[in-house]
Amino acid sequence: MKDKNRYLYKVLATDIEKKILNGTYVIGEKLPSIRELHTNLNLSISTICKAFVELERTGLIEVRPKSGYYIKPIPFLDQKIPSIGAGSHSPQKIESSFISNEVQLAMRNPNYLPLGTAALSIDLMPVKEIIRLIKNVSYRGIKSIFSYSLPQGEPELRRQLALRTVGFLEGVLPDNYIVTNGCTEALVLALKAVVKPEDTVAIESPTFYGILTVLEEMGVYVVEIPTDPVEGVNIEALENSIATNNIKACLFMSNFQNPLGSLIPDEKKEKLVRLLNHHEIPLIEDDVYSSLYHGKERPKPLKFWDRKELVLTCTSFSKTLAPGLRVGWIIAGNRFKNRLIELKRETSIATSCLDQYVMTEILKSGAYDKHLRHLRNSTRKQLYNVAHAIHEYFPKNIRLAVPKGGFLLWVQLPEGVDSIELYYKALEKQISILPGTICALSNQYKEYIRISCGHPFTEDIRKGIAMVGDLIRELSP
Ligand SMILES: Cc1ncc(COP(=O)(O)O)c(C=O)c1O
Repeated sequence: MKDKNRYLYKVLATDIEKKILNGTYVIGEKLPSIRELHTNLNLSISTICKAFVELERTGLIEVRPKSGYYIKPIPFLDQKIPSIGAGSHSPQKIESSFISNEVQLAMRNPNYLPLGTAALSIDLMPVKEIIRLIKNVSYRGIKSIFSYSLPQGEPELRRQLALRTVGFLEGVLPDNYIVTNGCTEALVLALKAVVKPEDTVAIESPTFYGILTVLEEMGVYVVEIPTDPVEGVNIEALENSIATNNIKACLFMSNFQNPLGSLIPDEKKEKLVRLLNHHEIPLIEDDVYSSLYHGKERPKPLKFWDRKELVLTCTSFSKTLAPGLRVGWIIAGNRFKNRLIELKRETSIATSCLDQYVMTEILKSGAYDKHLRHLRNSTRKQLYNVAHAIHEYFPKNIRLAVPKGGFLLWVQLPEGVDSIELYYKALEKQISILPGTICALSNQYKEYIRISCGHPFTEDIRKGIAMVGDLIRELSP
């Protein structure tokens, strides 16, 4: 009975939420009263109250004393940050900046309020479930953990991963997977399989700063393709760049891009893959955030449209389960698979058996899918709550686009506010934020910051955001 009630309140809350987000309910509109819903829907008063509390927590509705529940505006939901059309037009080598290294270190400092790092709070990880699974490892299981795994990865883990693509990525088999140490190793191996030093790689502008470090190490040239905060990489700009540069590979994020949160619409994804297939250019896709969608279903990876085995999909469980379990993977066709396995063997022999074992058990037990359902809810709430706080405490002339998934917010600061200065001032107050400058070459995005919403929204986070808001005002010319 308890479960049934829980289900009913969730169904009601989800239905109202959908109707708010698709505009059926308009901002400021009053919701039907608890009594009306009780009579019309034949639901108990407590079920309806619970649904309303859930919607209030998400920041979608508010109670007005003696009046009822009203639809609250989600600040910035329809706002667009204009694409600034940045990007380098000719290939350049990357020289890592001191500030980029420093920011990466600061983000890992547990004493700072974590608005910078794109990592989930441990409170959102299914710690008890993982401990239970580890405790239950049998003697036989433990013995198998002491040997080297296969360079390609444990067969059962690859089977579990392949099962998750049923109806989603046609024809993908366990044999198409190469298990890696997180997405970072997946990206490194994929790049090494398709480019060599001095080649040119096209990336998004702005992009995930970790990719810049990897590309610098590899000694390749990069061209930056302007990327829209809503619709992702600009295909016309990419076409022009292909015509003028000898691009050997592209590295893009189509689903909830880091740092923008952009999601490439399906028709644009298809066009992008067709273009690259036509030019025989390998496409490495970094897909770490796609499971954290807000809509009805997980957005498709670019690989879905690949007809020439040129797309290498790289991802991991770091953004959805635990970055400490270094389990990631590449999905590759026969064209690059053997080369990738060879590279994996040369780089790290194989991924840790223990990590793979734990991950396999989590997938097999159904615990991962259950956890994901909760996590999607939590990260969406966190994102909306932070957006509300930004709306309340930041100056009104900032811009922000609320993404349709993931947990990152890209904020355009008022003109003249330098994100590096803001970063140092925030650090003095023990708050870490990510200055936009480190997400691209040559000092672009000086007036942008990325705020991560990977932690449950608490009073400390509210105060931290209020402090960042004050600092922005202080630095405004
Ligand atoms: C877009 C993107 N790709 C890859 C990574 C690294 O993932 P992993 O920890 O699995 O190596 C991150 C982590 O921040 C990321 O944001």
